Amino acid sequence: MKISPVASFYEQNYWRAGFQTRLYDFLTVEAYLESLRKAVACVPEKEGQVWLDAGCGTGRAMEFLGTGGRREIRYLGTDVLEAGLRRLRRRAEEGGSNQRVLGFRGDLTLGLPLPENSVDVVLAHFSLYTLPGEGERRKALRLLGEVLRPSGRLVLVNPSKTYDPRAIVRESLQLLHHRKGWFSAGWHRCFVYPFSLHLGLKFVARQLRSGRWKAYELDELCREVEEAGFRIQHRETVYGGGAFLVTAGPEKPAGDLSGPITRVALPAASE
Ligand SMILES: C[S@@+](CC[C@H](N)C(=O)[O-])C[C@H]1O[C@@H](n2cnc3c(N)ncnc32)[C@H](O)[C@@H]1O
Repeated sequence: MKISPVASFYEQNYWRAGFQTRLYDFLTVEAYLESLRKAVACVPEKEGQVWLDAGCGTGRAMEFLGTGGRREIRYLGTDVLEAGLRRLRRRAEEGGSNQRVLGFRGDLTLGLPLPENSVDVVLAHFSLYTLPGEGERRKALRLLGEVLRPSGRLVLVNPSKTYDPRAIVRESLQLLHHRKGWFSAGWHRCFVYPFSLHLGLKFVARQLRSGRWKAYELDELCREVEEAGFRIQHRETVYGGGAFLVTAGPEKPAGDLSGPITRVALPAASE
């Protein structure tokens, strides 16, 4: 499908511009944060876990990790875009957790500079669906499986075929009304979510419809995960019906955990 130069420019700079201007964080709808909260809550709380946030953006997952019994966890965030990582580091500094947070550039399709069997949880929240081909997504999943410990868990959230921007905004307004009251819901309805809808959600919907980014049926997502060497543990619909959350464990024997270190050159700076 042909796209106009303006649309093509928008597509190429979408995340980077959103991270740099902080519009990405500002316009995030409540249903998206709820999806992140649910993704984190799927993993039993335990001290000292190592989390890898694959395609971490600005590291919003950190907001949900610092609660309950998740003390002393180590958070590794990786992304191709330095703009998001800068924001992630600032977030860690502001939250006083920079000792336990590391943001590093990496391309999920090339492999990560982490030892095998070194991570307890891999979170891939709305990241793998942007990889253009099935082969790349499967490769990224396999590489993520390599760094997971045999007892580890993959938490994956990707858009569904029923992704509907208006349903996502509706759910977000209900959540806001319930959590923060009518004033916050009214403010967001009038002054924030119209921009979220037109600059963000509708753009994503167009990308999904055109096939440039991947929208899934639940069975299809589970099959892709299983074929990359995982066993599905849990599945649910999130994000106003616009995404699926799947958790899975790696199919690998618990045994010798001293695998070789995956040494991969990080891609050159893209900014
Ligand atoms: C929708 S954002 C999600 C960010 C974050 N996970 C969240 O939920 O807020 C998608 C992210 O995937 C990252 N990404 C896309 N392709 C990638 C790749 N090949 N390797 C690493 N990150 C990638 C983008 O740079 C972007 O930050």
